[in-house]
Amino acid sequence: MCKNHGVSYVEPGKVEVTEIDYPKLALGDRKCEHGVILKIVATNICGSDQHMVRGRTTAEKGLVLGHEITGEVIECGRDVEFIKKGDMVSVPFNIACGRCRNCKAGLTGICLNVNGDRAGAAYGYVDMGGWIGGQAEYVMVPYADFNLLKFPDKDQAMEKILDLTMLSDILPTGFHGAVTAGVTVGSVVYVAGAGPVGLACAASCHLLGAAVVIVGDLNEERLAHARSFGCETINLTNGIPVEEQIAMIVGIPEVDCFVDCVGFEASGHGANAGKEMPAVVLNQAMAITRAGGQIGIPGLYVTEDPGAKDEAAKQGSLKIRFGLGWAKSHSFHTGQTPVMKYHKQLMNAILFDKIDIAKAVNVEVISLQDAPRGYEEFDSGVAKKFVIDPHGIITS
Ligand SMILES: NC(=O)c1ccc[n+]([C@@H]2O[C@H](COP(=O)([O-])OP(=O)(O)OC[C@H]3O[C@@H](n4cnc5c(N)ncnc54)[C@H](O)[C@@H]3O)[C@@H](O)[C@H]2O)c1
Ligand SMILES: [Zn+2]
Ligand SMILES: [Zn+2]
Repeated sequence: MCKNHGVSYVEPGKVEVTEIDYPKLALGDRKCEHGVILKIVATNICGSDQHMVRGRTTAEKGLVLGHEITGEVIECGRDVEFIKKGDMVSVPFNIACGRCRNCKAGLTGICLNVNGDRAGAAYGYVDMGGWIGGQAEYVMVPYADFNLLKFPDKDQAMEKILDLTMLSDILPTGFHGAVTAGVTVGSVVYVAGAGPVGLACAASCHLLGAAVVIVGDLNEERLAHARSFGCETINLTNGIPVEEQIAMIVGIPEVDCFVDCVGFEASGHGANAGKEMPAVVLNQAMAITRAGGQIGIPGLYVTEDPGAKDEAAKQGSLKIRFGLGWAKSHSFHTGQTPVMKYHKQLMNAILFDKIDIAKAVNVEVISLQDAPRGYEEFDSGVAKKFVIDPHGIITS
């Protein structure tokens, strides 16, 4: 029996790399003959992992992390028909059965059959069905024929692996944020957050033909990186109201499209500098999006936040000025990204050099043993996306 090692959550601020079980084609008593075992080639650390590692969820000690997985199929279950041993594949972070009403409608982020407690599941995530995470050497992927995206050529895939590894989550997520905010040719867009998702969103807005992409954050290093590939930026710590800064760039204090790539751990600014304000980005979205504009919200909001400052926010209740959005006929789009709605098209965009996503998010490759450092540095706000190379295949 092969050995397996993975990154698990220990306590707020701490993860560790330990020996974990080699995957089985099962989840507890549930048989997964429709699944495959992958040897993982690349697996990324995500801002969504950070919510757990900061102790802002009900994640328990020992949870094996990792939902951004790319790998090679080394074993197929009895019922897998089309995916074969040796295939190089991207794994959508959402787990979907392909059989339920939502999957049939393309809403794979809210599959009804993969999580006993609620709609939707993911690898290595609290409340997401108990599926084992993939910041590891090996992982099991259920419903493989439905979930996996096969790369056309292995050698070509290895050449572009640092781009292709973004297909499991942040590139489709940034793209989905842009699409649901109505971004199209000539759009004026504000992207809140210059983390990897915000930067992937900004690159997606360029791909979709936006005229101006303005990225806002409090982190100057991340903003400088956004400027390096053609974005305008707004530093929220400079004391000038956001509306005014937008007007300085586009002539009027509003945008067509707004994408929230921050989520519930948002920081206040201006008079509220230094405070955490879970609703600040949502309220800003309604203030600066034009009447009739759309607001995409890939940033994560939770139903329980043990680390919230007030009682209401502990239950995920936020103070939003919804009447303003209503008065401006805004549309809001929330939720997990249905990755497979976009991953094939975005793979082609990568393979035919239409998007430089690894550069846009500034990838740094690290070993599995180095994952705790990756978590720590990412949490400090460096302008990087950490890609774990568990078998030393990328760096060899
Ligand atoms: N919907 C999905 O399926 C999905 C998928 C992946 C990630 N996410 C979520 O997307 C969000 C971003 O992910 P990430 O990896 O880029 O995280 P990240 O933590 O690296 O980046 C968030 C950025 O937001 C900035 N920020 C904080 N307050 C702000 C404010 N008021 N205005 C503007 N910027 C502000 C931070 O400085 C940081 O740079 C997270 O909430 C993550 O959970 C959702
Ligand atoms: Zn992710
Ligand atoms: Zn389903």
